[in-house]
Order: sequence, then C-alpha cells, then structure tokens
Amino acid sequence: MFRTHNCGELKITDINKKVTLSGWINIIRNKGSIIWIDLRDRYGITQLVLEEKTTDSSIFKKAKTLGREDVIKVKGTVSKRTSKNEKISTGEIEIVITELEILNSSKIPPFTIENDTDGGEELRMKYRYLDIRRPQIRENLILRHQVVSILREYLNKKDFIEIETPSLIKSTPEGARDFLVPSRMNPGKFYALPQSPQTLKQLLMIGGMDKYYQLVKCFRDEDLRADRAPEFTQIDCEMSFIEQQDIFNTFEPAIQQVFNVIKGVTLPKFPVYTYDEVMSKYGTDKPDLRFDMQIIDITEKVQKCNFKVFDNSEYIGAICVKNSASFTRKQIDIYTDFIKNPNLKGKGLVYIKYNEDDSIRSSIDKFILPEQFKNWFIDLEAKKGDLVFVIADKKQKAQKILGELRLKLASDLNLKDKNKFAPLWVIDFPLLEWNEEHQRFFASHHPFTSPKDEDIVKMTTDPANVKAKAYDLVMNGFEIAGGSLRIHKKDIQEKMFKIIGMDLKQAYDEFGFLINALGYGAPPHGGIAIGLARLCAILGGSEAIRDFIAFPKNNSGKDIMIDAPSLISSEQLKELNL
Ligand code: AMO
Repeated sequence: MFRTHNCGELKITDINKKVTLSGWINIIRNKGSIIWIDLRDRYGITQLVLEEKTTDSSIFKKAKTLGREDVIKVKGTVSKRTSKNEKISTGEIEIVITELEILNSSKIPPFTIENDTDGGEELRMKYRYLDIRRPQIRENLILRHQVVSILREYLNKKDFIEIETPSLIKSTPEGARDFLVPSRMNPGKFYALPQSPQTLKQLLMIGGMDKYYQLVKCFRDEDLRADRAPEFTQIDCEMSFIEQQDIFNTFEPAIQQVFNVIKGVTLPKFPVYTYDEVMSKYGTDKPDLRFDMQIIDITEKVQKCNFKVFDNSEYIGAICVKNSASFTRKQIDIYTDFIKNPNLKGKGLVYIKYNEDDSIRSSIDKFILPEQFKNWFIDLEAKKGDLVFVIADKKQKAQKILGELRLKLASDLNLKDKNKFAPLWVIDFPLLEWNEEHQRFFASHHPFTSPKDEDIVKMTTDPANVKAKAYDLVMNGFEIAGGSLRIHKKDIQEKMFKIIGMDLKQAYDEFGFLINALGYGAPPHGGIAIGLARLCAILGGSEAIRDFIAFPKNNSGKDIMIDAPSLISSEQLKELNL
C-alpha cells in the first residue's frame, strides 16, 4: 500500500496514528542531526521529521541523499509539532519517520516548484508537468473542474441533455479562420475543426432535442491574446421555444451559483445594457463595471466656446478621474502618449485639473474661462481635486480612445479589484458590421443570429442599423459568454446570406444542410456559449486564460512541450495527397 492518508489531511486528532504517505519532496532541510522534509501531493504538504539519535541509521543515511522532487514513500507516527505552521492544513502535526522508500529519484528541476517560481513562461511551458505541480496551477485546474461540475449538475437538473457533435466538419467561409484536416480517403478534400458547434446544435433543436449542452473544444486559427486561445472549451447550450429572457433566467442563476459555491459571493441581479448604451458610456461592448468613470458626451456643451478644435469636431467626450488633480505633467504626458499609440491614433488629449483651492489648470485654459470649465464640470460631476480628460474626434473613435484610457487609468490607479465581480448582459447588438477591406457586411455575431422583428424590413433598406437578438454576458471587462436567438425561418436565413454577399447558390453550397433543415419545421430556438477558461480566469483573479488550461499553446499557437505543430514525413504528405 502506498498510502493510508494523503498529504493534506492529517490533523491534531490523528496524533499517535501509524501512517503511510507517498509524495514528492517539496523542500528538505538538513540541519545535521535532524532532517525535515516537506512532502507534497495534490492535497497538500505534510512535514516529515527524522532525528539522528532516534532514527535507524540506514534510514537517516538514505534521507541525507534525498533531493527536491524525489518521490518517496514513508511510514511513521503522527506527532504534535512544537511550532505550528498556520499556513497549511496539516500545520499542527508532523510525521516521525520509521521507514523510508525511494520510489523514484528526480533530476534537479529547471525551476523552483513554488508559486513564487524563478521559472520564466517559456521554461514553465516546456516543463508544464512540473508547472502543474506548483500549487497555483494545481488550484486553477481544480477550480476549473469545480466550475464544470457545478454547471453540468445545474444543466442536468434543468433537463438539458449532453450531446456530442463531431469534430471533423465542413469548412465554411464565415467567422474566424478554420483549422483544416486533410482527408486521406477523399483525396484533395479537407475537414475543418469546428469553430463552435453552432449549426449542429441548431440541427439538434430541429431534431427536437429541446435542450442541449456540451463541453466542447472549439478551434479558431486567429491571432492570440491573453484571453484568446486557438483551441478552447465552451459550455455550449441551445434551447427551443424560448425568448431572450428565458436565456437570462436560465444562465444568470447558473453563473450566480458558480460564484456562490466557489467564491462564496452573492452576485446581484445582472443589469442589462444595450450595445449603444455601453458604447457611449464605456467605449467598448465589454465594459468593466467594477469602477465608474463613465464617458460623458459634452459635445453640445463645449462647442461654440470659441475653441476651434472643439467647434470643428464631430464629437467631444470626457472622463472624470476622481481625486487625481495632483497628477504631474509627466503623468499626464504618459496618457497623452498612450492615446496617440498606433492602435488608438488619438490626435491629442485635453486635461483639466480642478484643484482643491478652486483654481483650474488646463491644457486649453488660454481659450476657456474658468466659469465655462465649471459649467462643464456640472455634466461631468467633477468636484474639487478631480482631473478631467477630454477627447475630440469622430464619435466612434473618440469613444474607443476614452474607453481604453478609462481602462488604463483604472489599472494604474488600482481600481480593478480582483475580489469584485461586476456582471452585466449586453443586448441589441448590431446584426451586421461593414468591412472596409472586403467592401461588404459581415454578421456581427454569426449569420444564424436573428434580426429583431421590428428591424427585418430594414435588412435590405438600412442594414447597418438592424439590431440583432444577440446578447453577451460580460464580467470585469471580459466577454465570458455570448449567444443569440436564431433565424428559424428559411426565407430570412436566405435573405441574411444575401446581405453578407452570398448568392443563393453559394449559400446552399456552403450551408444547404442548415437552410434545408429550416424548411422542415424548425422551432424558434436560441442559445449561448460560455467560455470556460475565461470564466475560470475571472474566478481565479487572473487575466490570462492560459493559467486555467492544462496544456496551453503559446502566443504563436505552439505547444513547446510536445513540439506541435511539427513537420510530417514525406510518406504522410504523399498519403494525404499534399
Ligand atoms: P462566441 O464566438 O461569442 O459564440 O464564443 C462564445 C464564448 O467563447 C469564448 N471564446 C474564447 N475563449 C478562449 N479563446 C478564444 N479564442 C475564444 N473565442 C471565444 C468567449 C465567448 O463569449 N456559437 C456561438 C455561441 C452561440 O451563439 O450560442 C459562439 O461560439 O467567452
């Protein structure tokens, strides 16, 4: 028997018990006549002790040869520790060793296996199995398991059925780039790995399954970021005979339950914002509501103040940074440089300091009188001691810049509290987005999303202003889930394809399986997909989803541990007709 107990469970109540433990050596402290070993497994750490004068000499000698990460099995007696370690669950006891077996030795690990490790990202990814031994990564994976368990149980209770859909499907032109798999048996032809099981889950609704879910891998060959992986898991759901509110009523409590069980936090009812509202107030469709600092449209108020830049601008927006009038020139320059970066291309940043002594300092105080500034402060709710930043530009661009500036200020001023969770639903997204490069509309969410009933007529006359029955669940500035009610009528689906530039033949070539199915009594249906790693990252207080994926890819889409992607042999290429 390798163990009677694990390394996280022995307590003061177990004193004098004879136990067997197995695990890895976390730390070994050799003080000459006494040796302490921290033995580690998934469950925790238990201190082992060997004293030269009371331990069998061969065992003591063996213990002296041990090193970090060696795997050992020990037998011994639980005894009370003289100095307690409050930080660990077994901190009141230690095991006095009577037997020691070395199960396997370890080479010196390339980095220290502790939360505060000296290993860089690259090295930790190469030796991910060692990284997983670090408590932080282990806890992250356990947290992920708990999230999955809670959601599975919740959905099962609500009558959802877990159904698997295929991973080798058809490449379609919409969405991100596909990962492709050549077919040996069908020379010259390729499967695509699903970007999501979107069309398949809709077919399940047409098949009458009513409520479906699946923990499913999705694959997207797109540029990677901290919150984007090339393969990621969705908790993908679809329901029949539902409206938007039914989705909220089903998934809001699911998320609340996850936060309650895992964080002990009671989330409030999720506020609902329209897309237009969040864009104008926060300059993004995934606002971080942990802090305020809303964008205020001051266009009307500040135009005709004799300041040409403002008079000639389509839009002027501002944010009020509380208690920051004391920012130095240098600090303000940092934000000016920030908004001018090539991604944002801001032209300039106006600042107005409303000092504690009632005086005002501004980059435009040559043009604007203090009374005028004070009149603006009413709209901005700026008080003495506050700092105001103003951007004048085209509306969308100015809002985007102010949104990014808001986030940067929040990071710099420590306003993003990791223990605060601010969920919201964003609804009424535009159905379509104009793409300059391709000179055509693309579906904002995906081409199966239904337009709002009242906007169907506008699909041909005013496509840019058609709103969709689409919704996102946003938390702390991240989109953690997205979904929509679907088009269930064949003619509207055909119309949708036409608007995004597909003629009927192409639409049927690409999506005939779905359009045809809509002709066989498709029920009204809709769904949502939760990004599992994103949800876990928020629960774990991290912005990097990689920490919640057992074997993640790096920013170039590589798995440097198993060395993928890799070259394949000429025989393989030949067999695949490549
Ligand atoms: P969408 O594309 O919005 O919708 O994806 C749903 C959720 O999946 C997560 N997500 C990602 N997570 C990690 N890496 C990525 N590259 C990545 N891309 C998306 C996000 C997102 O909210 N079929 C639709 C869902 C539906 O309409 O029901 C879909 O895939 O958290």
